Amino acid sequence: MDSYIIESNKKKSRIPARLDFAQSGTGLVLGLFMWVHMLLVGSIILGKGSFDFVAKTMELAFLSDTGHGFPIAVFFAVLTIFTIFIIHALLGIRKFPISWKQHRILRDQIAMMNHTDTNLWYIQAVTGFIMFFAGSVHLYIMLTHPGSIDPYLSADRIVSGNMWPLYLILLVCVELHGTIGLYRLCMKWGWFAGKDARKSRQTLKKLKNRATVFFLTIGVFALLVFVVIGINHRDKLGEKYIKQAAAVEQVQAVEPIQAVEPIPVQAETKAVEEGQAPEEAHKADVTNE
Ligand code: HEM
Repeated sequence: MDSYIIESNKKKSRIPARLDFAQSGTGLVLGLFMWVHMLLVGSIILGKGSFDFVAKTMELAFLSDTGHGFPIAVFFAVLTIFTIFIIHALLGIRKFPISWKQHRILRDQIAMMNHTDTNLWYIQAVTGFIMFFAGSVHLYIMLTHPGSIDPYLSADRIVSGNMWPLYLILLVCVELHGTIGLYRLCMKWGWFAGKDARKSRQTLKKLKNRATVFFLTIGVFALLVFVVIGINHRDKLGEKYIKQAAAVEQVQAVEPIQAVEPIPVQAETKAVEEGQAPEEAHKADVTNE
């Protein structure tokens, strides 16, 4: 009775709604960022040169006369994404079942309802939980090595640095979490609702599935290409990728080898070569001097 009285007198707080809005906002930014990120990383499928071009552009190399990049630009980009990532995760844990009993009840309800969107929510919760850890590892490495994004250094990190299992797990989690998240945002805020809500829901669900398959395919292909490069590059670990043009220039820049004057072959040597006994040749040479 007492608690009821206190509750009913209290004005409904707007904080949960604001937190939901912030979670949707950070989720939207991260979801769209991941689509761009995967296309940029996927440039390795088009070749080392394209990935190198993308990495240098992300380092704002076009602003420098020498074409070298500014890793500090990547550092700040990672810092921004990492901050949004942590805020999004913090807002997300509000919805997690905090005890096994709560988890049990949730599982039973999901099983009983067998409602696809509720099942999707559970996939999001599990993939979100995994990304707490796998995403943080990746982001911390990017934050502390912003200048190490290049076809060889990335491939070395994936193969010799054994990052491929983490990337594989992270890839599946982020593509599921991201596309389900964007789909649920459309449902939650009524985006692209159209006249027939039921029909637009089915269309959005189809788009969601196709986007998941599309980005997973790019991610897996990119990872395979990195693995092949990394295996072939194991004996040159840590060597940076040099653009073809730069490599040719470097070769040309090396001082052309000076023509070496032939050293006059001494008479003695010549005589020996012609089969004269060394002692004979030497005696002859000394007498000539
Ligand atoms: C600004 C922040 C980020 C930067 C600069 C970045 C950069 C990169 C780079 C350069 C790679 C290629 C592999 C490597 O060099 O190690 C990569 C791969 C990957 N990143 Fe990120 N990343 C960022 C944020 C994220 C976030 C927030 C996630 C997910 C939570 C993520 C998930 C992945 C995955 C799954 C791969 C493997 C891609 C594949 O399978 O081919 N990244 N990232």
